[in-house]
Amino acid sequence: MSITYNESTKTFLLNTKNSSYAMKIAPYGYLLHLYYGRLIPDSDLDYLIQFQDRGFSPNPFEAGNDRCFSLDFLPQEFSTSESGDYRSGSIEVENEDGSRIFCGKVSHFDIEPKKHLLKGMPSLRAGDQDTVQTLTIHLQDEISGLQADLIYGVFEEKDIITRSVLLVNNGSGPVRINRFMSATLDYMDSDYDLIYFAGRHTMEREAVRIPVERGLHAIGSSRGSSSHQYNPSLILCEKNAGEEHGCCYGFSLIYSGNFLMEAEKDQYSQLRINVGINPRGFSWLLNPGDSLESPELVLAFTAQGLTALSHLYHDIFRDNLCRSPYVKKPRPVVINSWEAAYFDFDEKKLLDIAQSSLQMGVDLFVLDDGWFGKRDNDCCSLGDWTVNYAKLKDGLKGLSQRIHQMGLSFGLWIEPEMVSEDSDLYRSHPDWCLRVPGRPAVRGRYQLVLDLSRSDVCDYLIAAINRLLSEARIEYIKWDMNRSLSEAWSSLLDRSRQGEVYHRYVLGLYHIMDQVILTHPDIIFCGCSGGGGRYDPAMYYYHPQIWCSDNTDAISRLKIQYGTSFFYPMSALESHVSICPNHQTGRTVSLKTRGITAMDGILGYELDSTRLSSEEREQCRRQVETYKHFEELVLNGDYYRLSSPYANPYFTAWQFVSKDKKRSVVSVVLTDKESNDAQRFVKLRGLSRQGRYRIEGQERILSGALLMNAGIPIPSGLKEYEGIQFELTMAEER
Ligand code: GLA
Repeated sequence: MSITYNESTKTFLLNTKNSSYAMKIAPYGYLLHLYYGRLIPDSDLDYLIQFQDRGFSPNPFEAGNDRCFSLDFLPQEFSTSESGDYRSGSIEVENEDGSRIFCGKVSHFDIEPKKHLLKGMPSLRAGDQDTVQTLTIHLQDEISGLQADLIYGVFEEKDIITRSVLLVNNGSGPVRINRFMSATLDYMDSDYDLIYFAGRHTMEREAVRIPVERGLHAIGSSRGSSSHQYNPSLILCEKNAGEEHGCCYGFSLIYSGNFLMEAEKDQYSQLRINVGINPRGFSWLLNPGDSLESPELVLAFTAQGLTALSHLYHDIFRDNLCRSPYVKKPRPVVINSWEAAYFDFDEKKLLDIAQSSLQMGVDLFVLDDGWFGKRDNDCCSLGDWTVNYAKLKDGLKGLSQRIHQMGLSFGLWIEPEMVSEDSDLYRSHPDWCLRVPGRPAVRGRYQLVLDLSRSDVCDYLIAAINRLLSEARIEYIKWDMNRSLSEAWSSLLDRSRQGEVYHRYVLGLYHIMDQVILTHPDIIFCGCSGGGGRYDPAMYYYHPQIWCSDNTDAISRLKIQYGTSFFYPMSALESHVSICPNHQTGRTVSLKTRGITAMDGILGYELDSTRLSSEEREQCRRQVETYKHFEELVLNGDYYRLSSPYANPYFTAWQFVSKDKKRSVVSVVLTDKESNDAQRFVKLRGLSRQGRYRIEGQERILSGALLMNAGIPIPSGLKEYEGIQFELTMAEER
């Protein structure tokens, strides 16, 4: 049993294969946290909680004269509010009488042999082979009537615990929720580092590692989407933790909107982690009988270092999160028109690109922005999802037919959540966007955001996209979103509910995606938001691959893809070879290196193939061939970061290994080169120690142990930015 309750000690023990999570119903009904870490057999952990009489630490009324019981320092599962805990809390409420107290005590609990699925939001599901149990602990505030159901999903074999919270107003008056975390985790020590993924447009998910310091450290988004700036993922690890060793905790929120992740080291050097919806701009009115559910947090613990942590997330996300039937299957190698033509094309130009890309061995042609309304630049037409016949004389149908006749599949770019002021949609429905009447609207890339908190707008979009999908044969959709939200004000909500707009937007988006993406399982949907501005687990639920960044420079991509790899499987990452000098950085890197870097995910091309020489197209064809040869490793193998682009100035290296350890591919890119350089070796990982491997093109057969401990020499003739791949096949199993 992965979830047990010890009646005599009132302790819950949640066990996975390698981790334990413990909590207990303490005196007076408070739910206290006891432990999260390596697997333990005990169910009496009471000694871990040291009650003390501490100055300025108030005691709940029920404690009477017991001055040692104070929520000021006790570790909690879901903190109270205004009840003597002064740390950043799990919840902030406004009761009908204006008081801000939530004092949740355990009323009862249930254990069920299944996974709880969130309503209206993506969450992990149990696979056929998984043993999953769900524990729900009901906390009740007797006076306001607000109930918080803490929901814990335990994936026993997969070392994963999920947490979410369902609020139910059982009282007789309305309660306003101003802050709502999916989970609070209290640690009794704080000797850890934090790793998070920060960035900006065209430079997403840079890995940042800092020590936990006294005070409150927060990352998050208030942009309405999960954002380029911070990813909703966080690692807490021992100070000496590295790729192969050390205790690591992972936190990944399945949510695409405003989120918050806090680490607070308190007065006693205890640590609190909070994860949930960002309270900034959030306020939700809960009338009697109403309920509100938090997004789901995916927690993982390993004592084996960062790679093991990544593998836990890669596996659970591939197996139990992504809904696309393509998640583990081969995907088409695409050629995308964006950097090839931008807005400047007609049917002939597109067909010429498609035709010349045939020699490259690509599978699918994607028509990016610029095909609809009168969109010759980014100032107009978003919302008018009707084809521009001046550019495409026979419409999408004609273009798609011709592309198919060439033997390619056809894909299309859309950005359904947006509207241009210069559009028929805006002219007929000016109130359908997020803006405040009487105030000038804030524009982003000249566009406004449709109000997805409105069901009529969602219905319109569902019908419009479904119509589009039936207009021509389309096998791939790139679903873009190109600005941050602002002025989250909806004309259909009264003033008491305007604080709900950001979250309602996200729920509206999920509803549209449920109705469009999940009803077209044959189409591959690629997520995008100005590159990787909405690269989050909830988007991965819908899209088997996400455009990782608008930066296609291979050397920048080393960092972007490195940061992305901590939580997301590389098969979720779409990466394209583009032209040099690169359009974003001006850098020139060999076509070979661009190919190697793009094979660190789902390979594609983003260039005008008519401008490549025949030799270059032939080189691309060989790249596609190589990629297809390795594709299974990218889709379903284990991923190893061999060398960090931050720590190692000389080279970045990564490796895919098949689950049975029989095949592997290692990629190395030189990031700096000195004259008469030191001989460097890349040490491999994940191989069988006893297994003996042949490196493609070499005579020698070497043991996995040798390859992992001594490594492979990086050829000294390689120049700066040059790359090399090694393919390994197990020759003998021992
Ligand atoms: C975003 C995407 C790009 C491209 C443009 C089109 O920036 O990330 O790949 O599709 O929009 O406008």
